[in-house]
Amino acid sequence: MGEQQVRAAFTELYGAEPEGVWSAPGRVNLIGEHTDYNDGFVMPFALPHTAVAAVARRDDGVLRLHSADVEGGVAELALDALAPGGDHDWTAYPAGVVWALREAGHPVTGADVHLASTVPAGAGLSSSAALEVVVALALNDLYELGLPRWQLARLCQRAENVYVGAPTGIMDQTASACCEAGHALFLDTRDLTQKQIPFDLAAEGLRLLVVDTQVKHAHSGGEYGKRRAGCEKGAALLGVDALRDVPYADLGAALERLAPDDPDGEVRRLVRHVVTEDERVERVVALLEAGDARAIGPVLDEGHASLRDDFRVSCPELDLVVDTARTAGALGARMTGGGFGGSAIVLVETADVAPVTQAVEKAFAAADFTAPRVFEAVPAAGAHRLT
Ligand code: GLA
Repeated sequence: MGEQQVRAAFTELYGAEPEGVWSAPGRVNLIGEHTDYNDGFVMPFALPHTAVAAVARRDDGVLRLHSADVEGGVAELALDALAPGGDHDWTAYPAGVVWALREAGHPVTGADVHLASTVPAGAGLSSSAALEVVVALALNDLYELGLPRWQLARLCQRAENVYVGAPTGIMDQTASACCEAGHALFLDTRDLTQKQIPFDLAAEGLRLLVVDTQVKHAHSGGEYGKRRAGCEKGAALLGVDALRDVPYADLGAALERLAPDDPDGEVRRLVRHVVTEDERVERVVALLEAGDARAIGPVLDEGHASLRDDFRVSCPELDLVVDTARTAGALGARMTGGGFGGSAIVLVETADVAPVTQAVEKAFAAADFTAPRVFEAVPAAGAHRLT
C-alpha cells in the first residue's frame, strides 16, 4: 500500500493531514515454531507485505480508527472505556495497543488512525502483529515515549494476550518491530537477545517460497492454548521454569521422568517437539553462519515432521504442500507460524521455482482444495517511519 495513498485517505477521512505515516511488516518464521512461549529460540524474517498507518494525535481522550481493508466507517472509542475482554473485531489490535501503552503509564491522549495492510489475514503471516506494531511505533514517535523496539513488542504482545485474548508468544511482534532487510532474526525469547543473521538466498542460487494454503487459522481458538498449557504442564512436571531449560542432551531422561504422569504420551510429545525444535534453530543458525544455506533443507523437513507428528498442529493442506514440494525437488519445506492452516515455506533451487509451484498447484486442484497463493519471500525491513 503506497504511503501517498494512505496519507490521502487519512486526509479525506479526518479532514486534516496526518502527522506521519508508518509501516510494519508481516513475517515468516524460518525455524523455531511453538518455542516462543517456552522461552526458546525462533528465527523469523520480515516480509515485504506491510501494515501502513497514517496517524495524528488528539488531546481529547478519543481514539478514531479506520481500515481500508474492512467494510464500515470510522470506529470512535473513548480511551477511558478501553477494557480487555469485550466482543472484539479488528479494532481490538490497535485499540489494545493504546490500552497497553496507557496501562503501562504512557501519556497517550488520543489519536486518529487510518490503516491499510497488504499482509494476508489469517494466513499465519502475522497480520495482527503488523497492525499492533505499526500503531505502537507511530504513538511512540508522536508522543515521544522513547521506548526501545523490544519493549514496543512486549506491549503489543500484552495487547494481544490480554486485550484481544489470544495467548500468543513474543515472536511475531518482535519480528515486525526488529527485523532487518536481508537478514533473519535469531531471537532468544527468554530475554529478547537478538542476532541479525545475513540471509541472502538468491546469492546462493536459492529461493524461499511461501505457500498460503488459504485455510484460515485463529489463535484465540482453543488448540493453540491447549498446546501452550500442555507445554507448561511438562515444564512443571520436570521442575523447570520453561521447556527451554531442558537441555537437548537430557531429552531422553526427561521423557522417562515424565512417563508415570503422562499415560497417553501427550505431554511427552509436546516436550519432545519443543526441545528438538530449539536444537534445530541452533543448527540452522550455525549452517547459515557457515554460508551453507542449502544444508538447512533437511532441518526444515525435520521441523515439519515434528510439528505434524509430535505437536500436531499441521493440517492436510499444509502436509500436502510439504510432501508435494519435496517430491517435486524442493530442498526442504515446513509449515510456518501457529499452524491449523495458514502457510508453509519451501526452500528451492532457483531453477525449481516453477516446477515446484506448479506441482503444488496441481496437487491442490487434484485434492479439491482451494487454490493456494504462492509467492517468493525475500527478507524485508522491520517497522519504520515512512514520512
Ligand atoms: C503464532 C504466535 C507466535 C508463535 C507461533 C508458533 O504465530 O503468534 O507467538 O507461538 O504461532 O511458533
